[in-house]
Amino acid sequence: MDARTKELIEELAQEHTLSAGGYEHLVRHQDEQSAALLAEHATAVRKRVYGTDVYVRGLIEFSSICKNDCLYCGLRASNHSCQRYRLSREQILSCTDLGYDLGFRTFVLQGGEDGWFDDDRLCDIVQAVRAQHPDCAITLSVGERQRESYARLREAGADRYLLRHETADPDHYARLHPTSMSFDNRMRCLYDLRDLGYAVGVGMMVGSPYQTPAHLARDLEFIDEFKPEMCGIGPFIPHHATPFASMPAGTLEQTCYLLSIIRLIHPPVLLPATTALGTIDPFGREKGMLAGANVVMPNLSPTDVRSKYLLYDGKICMGDEAAECHRCLELRMERVGYHVVVDRGDPKAAIA
Ligand code: SAM
Ligand code: SF4
Ligand code: FES
Repeated sequence: MDARTKELIEELAQEHTLSAGGYEHLVRHQDEQSAALLAEHATAVRKRVYGTDVYVRGLIEFSSICKNDCLYCGLRASNHSCQRYRLSREQILSCTDLGYDLGFRTFVLQGGEDGWFDDDRLCDIVQAVRAQHPDCAITLSVGERQRESYARLREAGADRYLLRHETADPDHYARLHPTSMSFDNRMRCLYDLRDLGYAVGVGMMVGSPYQTPAHLARDLEFIDEFKPEMCGIGPFIPHHATPFASMPAGTLEQTCYLLSIIRLIHPPVLLPATTALGTIDPFGREKGMLAGANVVMPNLSPTDVRSKYLLYDGKICMGDEAAECHRCLELRMERVGYHVVVDRGDPKAAIA
């Protein structure tokens, strides 16, 4: 680690912000020492805000049908080898009931952009979950929709929304998506969601195709500006039936390095150690926690559909029951000194 890198890390730990040039310097000067120093500061900040608590989110992957064609994703419409399914309202409600009994107090309903789930159907499901579990948070992750649709879902009882920005650079965005999708619309969605009172989650893949240090610096600047309540980052992992099949995966080291930086930029951010991180390394989620993460998202989907929701190759937990994943993560977190709690896990105010 050179003197300038050390100085920037100390500045970030103190001020919780850097110039764009500062972020790019940090991204370019990742080594074992700079990663260790960042993790040390990030852990101190994480413990100040959240102690050793780990929040769990029960992920329900309710549809593998998607009209979009994001070049990186195994669910893209052009992938004809993907097995498509959608869960019924009753199946979704039995997932939330099971999850509630296991101790989950946040449910994440995630899926492809599946037109069958129009506003009436999705609002009906959100209302039903809300009525059955009034003490739980409901998070949606169903892609880009009209402002009116986001407003109706919010009224129906949704509290949070995950929509990764994917990259904060419009040219890079265009290389990862078909021409039918636009960076401007993605930003419009994120600002609409915020405006409507959702807790909003952004995020990006680490090591996505064509990504440069300048792009990552722009992502960090965006996170600094937007101050999202949540930020989902995980390594890009290729899927064999996409145009990016032969692209290299992102790394554990760079993902952990960025997790630490993001924790320092925005101390109260809810930061998951993602399934993708657990996929590229057997202890990826533990290492993510030790870098500053404070959330894990075990799968609550029925086991018979797990293998059909394949965003990337090698996804873990394909045959494990929800109860097994929950227990497995409790033990994994305990082993590194953190504790899964029964809590909605709302974002806390930063503690100075
Ligand atoms: N369809 C919704 C959307 O796009 O926001 C929600 C589901 S989508 C599959 C959730 C996230 O998976 C995306 O935001 C993307 O960052 C991530 N993802 C997709 N393909 C991936 C891949 N090959 N490697 C790692 N993450 C991937
Ligand atoms: Fe569809 Fe989301 Fe995959 Fe894009 S990332 S193809 S919107 S499921
Ligand atoms: Fe699913 Fe470990 S988290 S088996």
